[in-house]
Amino acid sequence: MQISRRDVQFRIDPTRVPRDWANGDPYETTFMNALSTLFPEGEKFFVESVKQQKHHVTDPALERDVAAFIGQEAMHGREHRAFNDLLLAHGFRETPRVEANLKWFLKRVRRRLSPMSQLAVTCALEHFTAMLAEGLLRDPRARQEMHPDVAPLWLWHALEESEHKSVAFDVYRAAGGGFLRRAWMMLVTTFFFFLVQSIVHTRMMATRKILWKPWTWARGITRMWIYPGFFTKLIPAYFSYFRPSFHPSDRDTEQLIATWQLTLFGSSGIAPQQMAAEAIRDS
Ligand SMILES: [Fe+2]
Ligand SMILES: [Fe+2]
Repeated sequence: MQISRRDVQFRIDPTRVPRDWANGDPYETTFMNALSTLFPEGEKFFVESVKQQKHHVTDPALERDVAAFIGQEAMHGREHRAFNDLLLAHGFRETPRVEANLKWFLKRVRRRLSPMSQLAVTCALEHFTAMLAEGLLRDPRARQEMHPDVAPLWLWHALEESEHKSVAFDVYRAAGGGFLRRAWMMLVTTFFFFLVQSIVHTRMMATRKILWKPWTWARGITRMWIYPGFFTKLIPAYFSYFRPSFHPSDRDTEQLIATWQLTLFGSSGIAPQQMAAEAIRDS
């Protein structure tokens, strides 16, 4: 499948978006907000780790995909940074500090891990984003519950995460990366991802003044893990990563991607107005 680089600018007006833009629910919204604050620095890390190893790639098709991957992640970083400014306007004043702390943390990760292990971390997180993206694109309820001004940003990001889900993995393999390192790094990454995400989420819940409202928590956790159980549905996909023969394309999302390319960027799609002129540059 060809991966497209799209120059998309959402320019979301903070005054039109309610503070609890996800399902009118402060728990879910602060969860998504926390994810968004992690994206710009996180995606910079992904790009750098792939760039460090791309000299191993000899297949011209993968070389093209790598260029498209870098372009897509750069756009995600830019648009989520803009979204994080909206969070600032919504009173989440900790947003720049969270980004700075993550930058500090990732600097240490780069120092401690070899380039190959850094790429294995990226493969693990790309598996996370691919799972979340597929979940979002397949679940009508999850996307209908987002405010209409905000939904295109998350759906566009989800679509592109699905489009490029194999790229970091293929570079890892081309560079000679093995199963044991990949599996071990997934375990380590899972621990740190949930730790960091939970810290940021908790901080945002405190700002939103729901930290001491257990019913708000209980309802949010129930919806995410029990009914409808958005995250519980992703557990089998998570464990599939530990098969030695795993490849991201084992999960067939071609049809899903084609549908969403049309829904978002077709002539009557919901996002073309956000695309700069001559926006789609097929790689
Ligand atoms: Fe991304
Ligand atoms: Fe990605």
